[in-house]
Amino acid sequence: MSPVALEVDGLTHRYGVRPVLDDVSFEVAAGEVVAIVGPSGAGKTTLFRAVTQLVRADAGRVVLGGRELSALAGGELRQARRDIGLIFQQFNLVRRLSALDNVVAGRLAELPTWRVLVRRPGPTVRAEALECLSRVGLADHAGSRADRLSGGQQQRVAIARALAQRTRVVLADEPVSSLDPESSASVLAALASVARAEGIAVLCNLHQVDLISGFADRVIGLRDGRVVVDVETAAFTDDHRALVYRPAPVGALR
Ligand SMILES: Nc1ncnc2c1ncn2[C@@H]1O[C@H](COP(=O)(O)OP(=O)(O)OP(=O)(O)O)[C@@H](O)[C@H]1O
Ligand SMILES: [Mg+2]
Repeated sequence: MSPVALEVDGLTHRYGVRPVLDDVSFEVAAGEVVAIVGPSGAGKTTLFRAVTQLVRADAGRVVLGGRELSALAGGELRQARRDIGLIFQQFNLVRRLSALDNVVAGRLAELPTWRVLVRRPGPTVRAEALECLSRVGLADHAGSRADRLSGGQQQRVAIARALAQRTRVVLADEPVSSLDPESSASVLAALASVARAEGIAVLCNLHQVDLISGFADRVIGLRDGRVVVDVETAAFTDDHRALVYRPAPVGALR
């Protein structure tokens, strides 16, 4: 069994009186790929913000590689956060930079982009960045400007950038919602295969439940801030799907 990379324990958060995260607990092992599904407003993005401590939850703990993030602040928290790679719905690349330089910027995440350019990172860093691009099938586009790549290619660059950060955990918030179904499946497959090869734990928010089976090991279903499903992907049935998306209140299936 792989070691636990991320532990979320009893995470609870309210905006006003409404609980948005309600006693959310789960563990993710190194190299494990977990899809998080749930209707709009279920708390998926808030969960990610609480994991990174951008939102300080009212209760509960987040433990990353043995360190309790929720107990850290200031420089210690900033340092610990570097162990989390983020991939967003919008690709957040620097448009005028090449694919390779965008990945290099991830490798040197502690520096602002202009420093990355001014410092002219050495051959090792560039070689590592190129290796990350190859992992997502984009070595041939290393020199292309980010804004001349297709959406799917740009999202692969974003994955390569997160990889180059050499983080323990990657959080991807709807990374393929602006892509067509075919590119979506291949981008998710690329993410999963590098995660497994590198032992990176991946949590991926998704609206398209149909895409889960191709890439995730496990599915966590959130509804109204609660975990209502937590099963291996192969065991995810229509009943689970209904439990997550149907409005009627019912007990949890595990
Ligand atoms: N800063 C905030 N202040 C008040 N309420 C908030 C804030 N952020 C989120 N919420 C509320 O918390 C709930 C969960 O929001 P969240 O963005 O986590 O949902 P989600 O599952 O990511 O939805 P979607 O699938 O639409 O992205 C929603 O009801 C939302 O309105
Ligand atoms: Mg969201």
